[in-house]
Amino acid sequence: MIPTSALQALPRAATSVLLWQPCRKNPQPLLTAQFLHQELPVRLTQTLKIVNASDVPFGMSNLPTFRRISENLLDDIARLSRTPRPMCQVQEVSFTEQLQELQHRQEINNQSIGHGLQELLDISKKSIDLNDKRLKLFFDKYYTMALGTRTILSEHLSLHEHERSTVEKVSPLDVAKKAAFDARRVCATHYGLKAPEVEIISKNTSVSPLYIEEYLHRSLFEILKNSFKATAETHRNSTRLPPVKIVIVAGGEDVTIKVSDVGGGIPMSKIDNLWGYTYSEPSENGSFLAGKNTNYGMDIPLAGFGPGLSVARLISRYFGGDLNVVSMDGYGTDAYLHIFRQQSCLENVPEYEDTEILFEPEEPMQVAALGSA
Ligand SMILES: Nc1ncnc2c1ncn2[C@@H]1O[C@H](COP(=O)(O)OP(=O)(O)OP(=O)(O)O)[C@@H](O)[C@H]1O
Ligand SMILES: [Mg+2]
Repeated sequence: MIPTSALQALPRAATSVLLWQPCRKNPQPLLTAQFLHQELPVRLTQTLKIVNASDVPFGMSNLPTFRRISENLLDDIARLSRTPRPMCQVQEVSFTEQLQELQHRQEINNQSIGHGLQELLDISKKSIDLNDKRLKLFFDKYYTMALGTRTILSEHLSLHEHERSTVEKVSPLDVAKKAAFDARRVCATHYGLKAPEVEIISKNTSVSPLYIEEYLHRSLFEILKNSFKATAETHRNSTRLPPVKIVIVAGGEDVTIKVSDVGGGIPMSKIDNLWGYTYSEPSENGSFLAGKNTNYGMDIPLAGFGPGLSVARLISRYFGGDLNVVSMDGYGTDAYLHIFRQQSCLENVPEYEDTEILFEPEEPMQVAALGSA
């Protein structure tokens, strides 16, 4: 029986995992399973710390939903710690089955975060400031950690289930074309707006950085959707909409994708709010909920309420890149998406080693010695 304080002793998460490189060239399921056996308790403990950190605002950690998430995380850490380190193929297969269930439970946890926010709004009678910086920080940390956990799990699970999205070499030009096509369709069907034309200028097209194609598509799709919407609304009385321009350039360290529109820009006072998870300007027909299923496969239930850009930035930062928005209010907006080019494709996950876990479960846990082989 151990108290949660014993979890403080776990080492911090590995900050740069090169899991997928050996995976792709020479699949070694036993090796990646052993890595996950060691790494996952650390990641889940970090997530537990994020949910229970003293800087989580509005007493969220004590709301029933967040307490349930903490209980689930503790339960998963306990299950992993009871499982012996896989040492042969048979054990690897059985451990992988356990990981499939664990990923499913993680997805449920991630979905619950959105319910937790709803719970907070209900309890506070909507008096919560959704632009509170601590709230944004909480979502940044939680979703980055969730993205990291999901990514390393998927890399291993893809060795058994081939339809999973994994890290691979992607063509930014091809992905941009597809994202533009899809965003134009959504603009017409969901917003009822005619989308502007897209002009693409691409240099060094042979460069193909490592990324999860689905995530790059999603990020560009979100940026383009915003540009189309702003352009169509600003120029609604024009006979011809000004085009949205995409410029793709491979530099020495990164590939930058710039998306430029002349959709009227964003007021300076609203720029900071862009990076929150709950900021959204309803479109004129009130249809901004159209994107509610656009959750990056990360089960972010808040999508459609304004996390489009925030999640796109979180993903690019996780892969070592960035997303910046520069706007000229009264004219238009440029979004710069940077993709880190190094073939090692480092992952960036937050480190919170100093945070104490304040959560204590109602029932004491039965946990075998953590990290026991
Ligand atoms: N290119 C742009 N031009 C003008 N305003 C923009 C642009 N990009 C973003 N915005 C403003 O920033 C807000 C937040 O954008 P974001 O994509 O994060 O959320 P959203 O579009 O409101 O909702 P969703 O989650 O469905 O994308 C938008 O509502 C819009 O007001
Ligand atoms: Mg958007």
